[in-house]
Amino acid sequence: MPLLRVENISHAFDYQLFEKVNFSLKPKESMAILGVSGSGKSTLLHICSTLLRPNSGTVTLFDKNIYAQHENDTLKLRRYDVGIIFQAHYLFKGFIAYENIELASFLSDKTIDSSMLERLGIADFMHYKVGDLSGGQQQRISIARVLAKKPKIIFADEPTGNLDDKTAQEVMNVLFEYIEKENATLLLVTHNTHLAKQCTYHRYLHVDGLKEEA
Ligand SMILES: Nc1ncnc2c1ncn2[C@@H]1O[C@H](COP(=O)(O)OP(=O)(O)OP(=O)(O)O)[C@@H](O)[C@H]1O
Ligand SMILES: [Mg+2]
Repeated sequence: MPLLRVENISHAFDYQLFEKVNFSLKPKESMAILGVSGSGKSTLLHICSTLLRPNSGTVTLFDKNIYAQHENDTLKLRRYDVGIIFQAHYLFKGFIAYENIELASFLSDKTIDSSMLERLGIADFMHYKVGDLSGGQQQRISIARVLAKKPKIIFADEPTGNLDDKTAQEVMNVLFEYIEKENATLLLVTHNTHLAKQCTYHRYLHVDGLKEEA
């Protein structure tokens, strides 16, 4: 059974972004979405991750049609099962790094895996105020915060955008190992073709759907 199934999604704001987007992802699978800036990649991610109802089409997460079910069921799904790494990370700036991660684990009744903090290279920054950390460090804190709730599906919008190549690869390794170990799924938006090709699938977003070519 796929964890995520997307059927005939289309969406427009001021102009038609895309239509006929179809794919599905099973446990341990990952997919990268590439495409030019403004093509609607973040929008598609929001649609798949319960945050935005598409103009048409269906999104099935864990066998539930998320835009047909009761809002309370969607809230529960979002709290426990869905992890979203945003393009702009929304950390609580006045708090220390550890408190940001702790909050996520607390809200979903999970414990923090300290080896994950080591692997992300942020274990030494846990007691820094978020506002005192670099952009790349903050980005990794936001990834740790999402993993701390042990989601079954991760939506990540350019999670390595602020990172050097080596750190970006490390972060992707953490995400790939996470989905392997937890039987989870990863939907990744990136401009980095090298990282995209490490996913089970990589597709380009065009107006008429996802394609194998740019
Ligand atoms: N809430 C909104 N209301 C109106 N227009 C929007 C909204 N969100 C996004 N758009 C528009 O939709 C288009 C696609 O935006 P989106 O953020 O999905 O692109 P993207 O492919 O993620 O781009 P990038 O690679 O730069 O992150 C843009 O023209 C954007 O201005
Ligand atoms: Mg975007």
